[in-house]
Amino acid sequence: MERTFVMLKPGVLQRRIAGEVLSRFERKGLKIIALKLLKMNKTLVETHYAEHKGKDFYEPLLEYTLSGPIIAMILEGMEAITVVRRLAGPTNLDEMAPGTIRGDFAARTRLNIIHASDSISSAEREINLFFKPEEIIEWEDGNQQWF
Ligand code: CMP
Repeated sequence: MERTFVMLKPGVLQRRIAGEVLSRFERKGLKIIALKLLKMNKTLVETHYAEHKGKDFYEPLLEYTLSGPIIAMILEGMEAITVVRRLAGPTNLDEMAPGTIRGDFAARTRLNIIHASDSISSAEREINLFFKPEEIIEWEDGNQQWF
């Protein structure tokens, strides 16, 4: 079992598509073990996107991420990091295939609606950045055999 961090960017709430995006994770069988709505502050955005500091899209990325509330979550499942990255689709507009979340809902690379951890170490870092241990709820439903 693996855990991954997912952020639904401000465009998701603004466009009222949060339910559609969440349902893709649920249909795949991923388990939501933490979920919250929050308005990020500048320090949190800068820490989260520190690796992109200095790139040409960095300032617009900060501005977009601060433009409204986001939904942060932790998803659990077999190979959850890879599975969620596949569901999300590639970052660049010209590579986003239809059927993926970005391919179906994003019309610009910069406004690509979803962030998902790209490795075990980033998942751990991002989970710790956004969630306290007591906000993570482990639960069982007896359905593990299907997923
Ligand atoms: P995300 O997965 O949140 O990680 C960094 C974000 O920076 C990315 O999604 C995009 O929103 C943005 N980004 C990454 N590469 C580019 C790019 N080449 N041009 C514009 N924005 C980018």
